[in-house]
Amino acid sequence: MKKNITAVKGFKDILPSQTGKWLYVEGIARTIFTNFGFREIRVPILEKTALFQRSIGEATDIVEKEMYTFLDRSDDQLTLRPEATASVLRACIEHNLFTPGQATRLFTIGPMFRRERPQKGRYRQFHQIDVELLGLDNPITDAEVILMLIHFLNTLGLSNLGLEINSLGCPLCRPGFREAMTAYLKGREAGLCGDCQRRISSNPLRIFDCKIEGCAETIRGAPLILDHLCPDCSDHFEQVQRYLNDFQLKFTVNARMVRGLDYYTKTAFEVVAGAAGAQNAIVGGGRYNGLIKELGGDDIPGIGFAIGFERLLSLVPKEDAEFDIAPILYIATQGDDALASALSLGNHLRLRGISTEMSYVTRSLKSQMKQADKLNCRYVLMLGEAELASGRAQLRDMRRSLQWPLSLDGIENSLIDLIDGTVNSQKGSSPLRGDGDNS
Ligand code: HAM
Repeated sequence: MKKNITAVKGFKDILPSQTGKWLYVEGIARTIFTNFGFREIRVPILEKTALFQRSIGEATDIVEKEMYTFLDRSDDQLTLRPEATASVLRACIEHNLFTPGQATRLFTIGPMFRRERPQKGRYRQFHQIDVELLGLDNPITDAEVILMLIHFLNTLGLSNLGLEINSLGCPLCRPGFREAMTAYLKGREAGLCGDCQRRISSNPLRIFDCKIEGCAETIRGAPLILDHLCPDCSDHFEQVQRYLNDFQLKFTVNARMVRGLDYYTKTAFEVVAGAAGAQNAIVGGGRYNGLIKELGGDDIPGIGFAIGFERLLSLVPKEDAEFDIAPILYIATQGDDALASALSLGNHLRLRGISTEMSYVTRSLKSQMKQADKLNCRYVLMLGEAELASGRAQLRDMRRSLQWPLSLDGIENSLIDLIDGTVNSQKGSSPLRGDGDNS
């Protein structure tokens, strides 16, 4: 026997029993984001490698060691996107989606790829819900995207979350910080890992993001960027906090929080979940005022965040099974003639928007009832040779354990009336009739 070909390590299937919960979360995201004026954009998952090198930064873990990069058959160097921000900005520049002085608000949902060591909550293909607000540097927009984010997480029923914010300054504040950091690290280099030793000259802020204990210990007393902000960044950060307070959003200032990507300026933030273990950041984001220019566009500011979809789902307090959509009707048959009628009737009902299941082979009534029960069908229509002869099938309401005869004459319409009645009396619960209703 040939060996099975399995999925690539760190790449996960999302099974039919799980997709209902994904769609539910996406639906809430779309509704809330639309209310805040965001529109959906869909960008390719493959980009030129240079896009990520230039945006995320050469000295980051992502670019240094986690990207899926390859030469295609025409020798172009391409990369499976490790995040969405760079792609969204590239698309905005390419299609000129900016309006001077106004906000361009976009979101996108899709897979990202990072070759990290897989573990619970960390995958090599994972999904993000990504939001970007471009064109304004007003601190109210920082607070506004955070307000929308927290509202979204609360609507999903998440609790025990922590919002952490920091300011990472701008090119004006960085030289002073770099000088202070270099002075602090002088003589302490040996306590740092090889990567962080290189970071002293490339980007000392990155050292705060290193997970190695020796590095954390070495920089315990290091200067903080918050103490080196220029007046503009300092004022911006103050105002963001004032607006967050106005919105009654709880947050903590974490002066040691830096992000894993180099493009941030001013506000940076993360949402961490108390219960999610080591992989506890479910959202990361911040302002990136120099990035659009860096990518070849005009000098346009921006701010955004990305939610890790898998980490988010693990915290939504609902079971996958709650989103399983059951067919409302099962047609059980006995005999070849009844089977042929059922296959025709079932498909006609589907065309008119009634989700219907039936057996495609002759089987015992008992096993068909068992299947209907397993599928959680509300009604079973029983059709055998005797019913065909008498012109009356039997309909069973599985939930109420009631059964009654139904004339085969006009049965399609009778079933639709009955099921529409059920749907109307359950308005707001599961969608029993599909969108394909063309009756
Ligand atoms: P990030 O912090 O690299 O930011 O990723 C955002 C979120 O994606 C993380 O908080 C985490 O929940 C999830 N995530 C990251 N890596 C993995 C992984 N290997 N497996 C599972 N989940 C993961 C960004 O990507 C920025 N582009 C966010 C942003 C948008 N900033 C401004 N706009």
